[in-house]
Amino acid sequence: MILTTSQTQAIEDQYTSGLYTKRPLVIVRGQGAHLWDADGNEYIDCVGGQGAANLGHANPLVAEAIAQQAATLISCPEMFYNDRRALLEQKLCSLSGFPRVFLCNSGTESVEAALKFARLVTGRTGIIATMRGFHGRTMGALSATWEKKYREPFEPLVPGFSHVPYNNLEALANAVNETTAAVILEVVQGEGGVTPGQAEYLRGAETICHERGALLIIDEVQTGFARTGRLFAFQHHNLHPDFVCLAKSIAGGLPMGAVLIGERAGKLAPQTHGSTFGGNPLACAASLAAIAYIETNQLAQRSAELGAWFLGQLKTIQSPLIREVRGLGLMCGIELRQKVTPYLQALMAKGVLALPAGLTVLRFLPPLVIEQSDLAKVVQAVNEVLNQPIND
Ligand SMILES: Cc1ncc(COP(=O)(O)O)c(C=O)c1O
Repeated sequence: MILTTSQTQAIEDQYTSGLYTKRPLVIVRGQGAHLWDADGNEYIDCVGGQGAANLGHANPLVAEAIAQQAATLISCPEMFYNDRRALLEQKLCSLSGFPRVFLCNSGTESVEAALKFARLVTGRTGIIATMRGFHGRTMGALSATWEKKYREPFEPLVPGFSHVPYNNLEALANAVNETTAAVILEVVQGEGGVTPGQAEYLRGAETICHERGALLIIDEVQTGFARTGRLFAFQHHNLHPDFVCLAKSIAGGLPMGAVLIGERAGKLAPQTHGSTFGGNPLACAASLAAIAYIETNQLAQRSAELGAWFLGQLKTIQSPLIREVRGLGLMCGIELRQKVTPYLQALMAKGVLALPAGLTVLRFLPPLVIEQSDLAKVVQAVNEVLNQPIND
């Protein structure tokens, strides 16, 4: 049954939970960095599945792996061994240099798991997170998330969490003590405004954790899988975290999450955590294909080169609305002096889909397969919307 645009919108509006603020587009197809709506209009996609589409839409290698595995075996809980899971665990560990990995199904689950593991391993309860940090929406991950509007309706949250300013080593040093199980950080804060962590801050955080017996959790849910120009963003700074949270593009867009588990955490006690879907062969096969594609096509290098070019071009835009342009690899943001919503709408009208990060940052997370010519069109569209009158 083929639905028209208005039929789809009417049905979703009637039956949706109501949790999401929707844009008036019915997206029905994707290819690489392009999306099409039900009326056949084409868009350059800088939403990139909110970071889940690093490999591009309808990636042929991932699609083929999913189809083959779906016809072979979809479910297989971790009470059994499985060949696809074994190969993926080995691959993730060899790529990251970590000895072990836990597989789950989303970003928030990977954070939730890392927080539990940190408490389990240290026997301590305190978790230090950062202001403007975003880590997900389940109760533990939400407790680590900063934004008040996500937290307040659900209080009381998990006890033991506190937040310190990001990129402020002194504040972190004052907060970490003998009750701290873990410090959780993003290498580049994504939802919080595309704010890169400074090298000395991130390395200093690692030292503080080591000296005080706390564990370091790096949340790479958004920055992972070549987004910032390295396979993992912690590799920019030669960090040695105890846990690394992964999700979004780990399986080429299929739901999956993972926690890389470092030496200091060791092998976790049986039955202390688990997941029915975690490590299912379908997601593992998709992830193996996704990683093979990233490696073969050198997407990390592509992200570094195209990202540097794109950021440079965005910086040339002259507009009184721009406060700052920042980013790492193809994770780019423009902080405006005003709210971004009208500018996102104006970009959409020009065929460019982008994201907000907080209220005032325009965020671009294009698939890493995007062509430079498309990024040039994005720059031109951004230049135009930031220099035209907009009705708020
Ligand atoms: C850094 C970070 N951590 C965790 C999450 C939560 O991931 P998910 O939406 O898959 O639960 C996100 C989602 O945007 C994120 O950006």
